[in-house]
Amino acid sequence: MCGIVACFSREDCYGKLLAALRRLEYRGYDSAGIALLSAAGLSVRKRAGGVGNLAGPPLPGETGIGHTRWATHGAPTDVNAHPHVCGKFAVVHNGIVENFAQLKAELIAKGETFRSETDSEVIAHLVARAYEGDFFAAVAAACGQLRGSYAVAVLCTDRPGEIVCARSGSPLVAGCAGGALYVCSDVPALGEDACFCAAQDGEFIRIEGGVIRFCGRDGREIPKTFTRASGGGCAEASAAGSFMEREIGEIPAALSRTLEGLRDFDFAPCARAMRGAKNIFAVACGSALHAALAFKDAAEEEAGAPVLCFSASEFRSRAPLAGRGDLVVAVSQSGETADTLGAVRLARSRGAYVLAVTNVAHSSLAGEADLAVFMRAGPEVAVAATKSYNCQLLCLYYIAAQLCYYRKDRFPSYFGELFRLPEAARAAFSAFSAAEEIARAFRDAPAMYFIGRGKEARTAAEGALKVKEIAYLFAEGLPAGELKHGPLALVEEGFPVVALSTSRALLAKMAGALAEVKARGARVALLSQYEEALADPAVDFPVRLPALCERLMPVLSVIPLQHLACRLCLLRGFDPDRPRNLAKSVTVE
Ligand code: G6P
Repeated sequence: MCGIVACFSREDCYGKLLAALRRLEYRGYDSAGIALLSAAGLSVRKRAGGVGNLAGPPLPGETGIGHTRWATHGAPTDVNAHPHVCGKFAVVHNGIVENFAQLKAELIAKGETFRSETDSEVIAHLVARAYEGDFFAAVAAACGQLRGSYAVAVLCTDRPGEIVCARSGSPLVAGCAGGALYVCSDVPALGEDACFCAAQDGEFIRIEGGVIRFCGRDGREIPKTFTRASGGGCAEASAAGSFMEREIGEIPAALSRTLEGLRDFDFAPCARAMRGAKNIFAVACGSALHAALAFKDAAEEEAGAPVLCFSASEFRSRAPLAGRGDLVVAVSQSGETADTLGAVRLARSRGAYVLAVTNVAHSSLAGEADLAVFMRAGPEVAVAATKSYNCQLLCLYYIAAQLCYYRKDRFPSYFGELFRLPEAARAAFSAFSAAEEIARAFRDAPAMYFIGRGKEARTAAEGALKVKEIAYLFAEGLPAGELKHGPLALVEEGFPVVALSTSRALLAKMAGALAEVKARGARVALLSQYEEALADPAVDFPVRLPALCERLMPVLSVIPLQHLACRLCLLRGFDPDRPRNLAKSVTVE
């Protein structure tokens, strides 16, 4: 949520900041701003709307900061956009200053005047008031007064060529790319051929004299090693399509990379927890929660290991459940989701062993877990998760297989089939034309249901989430058996129902549910690998899936649903990459 970037470049600093901000737009895009520092002082350009709205003549200077916003405090207006300026200082901030109301009241009492409604503006005032000629000391003193989470970058008109940044709870990396030095929210902002190093909580990063240095609050330098960013940064969205379409297209390749990583992964460090955990928990948010539920299904059915699965926010809201001797599997594409991190910290503080599944090797989650499995899905830019969901499922089915191995001394029968997933995922693309037809038929519907039974109830929930997120169409995903306990009341002539039926043992039961909705006039789409299911007369739109062992079908069946959501979104005239009100990385609670 919100992306920040600081840049020092002797050439085209403004252009480089803009390019980095564009690559960070997945973190928020309701307003954006840039400040550059030159001999003439600060120049600021900030506007409501996307980074594109910052176009204009380049601002002068070799040192600058930028911000792309996902509003929390204050509407997305020009005034509320960052950077916030106070006296000699300009500040960009990602996070939430929880004690901002109190700080703001104190500052106003001391005579400060605020321009915006943001929590972030207090930081600029605190730095300005703490300044007695030492730029770094002023930022460190201001940060010492903040509660909540922050990644900040600050400019000072007395110190051209210098930037001071700090991290506590929100991600921050330093990097070099294309002859420029950067500090920013995430590695993809650096572009191609970058080297980077992530800051830990409580650390500061200084750009000064053309070098980057990490240090503690006392100013003492912390030695660091920079690593080359693997696979470069994120490509720009091509004219040929949105990030989301391309990320769906990348699923087979992403699954291959995930498999390569898993093949070499050493699970021995968590063998004890796998073998002997008293309780096993799974925690996650959003799509990752649906993947965690799929893990529960596999672990329970294949390894005989009961799993308590929680939305990470709910896990935190309850009396702490996990403790010593328990295993907590935490799933997060970004590895920065505030509630998932909060749940992990709570579980670890109570002695549980945390196994993380994440796509970002240098993420906070990877750093805080006892062991982390990397998905290797590659950067995912579109806000709605697609390829990362498929890769999460693959990792989690792999982990469930390990659990089975440690508990039953054998791998489950599906284990070998995991290696066929990339090829089967490619075969699932043949269902796209059917998904296209469904999108055209359902584009003006007021609402729709996704139904599944057993493991496909998770896929139904994920399909509905995708449609809500990007097509702004009310959708509910539910176990088919729940229809008659309420949801059936809404089914009338023309109501769209998308059903998933990939378990032979449940075909007859799903056929019963379809007959019920059809009798009320529903238009029915059905996804299955079984011809007899597709031939059901209740089915208006049959979607043929490739055959694979049933346990792994959720990795495939979700692919046409991702495509369906994307097509619905485009047909309804929306941008699949930037759904309103949402952000990719939810670093606030
Ligand atoms: C946001 C994104 C979702 C994602 C969820 C969890 O809501 O829009 O696509 O599933 O966060 O993100 P994580 O990075 O923890 O997987």
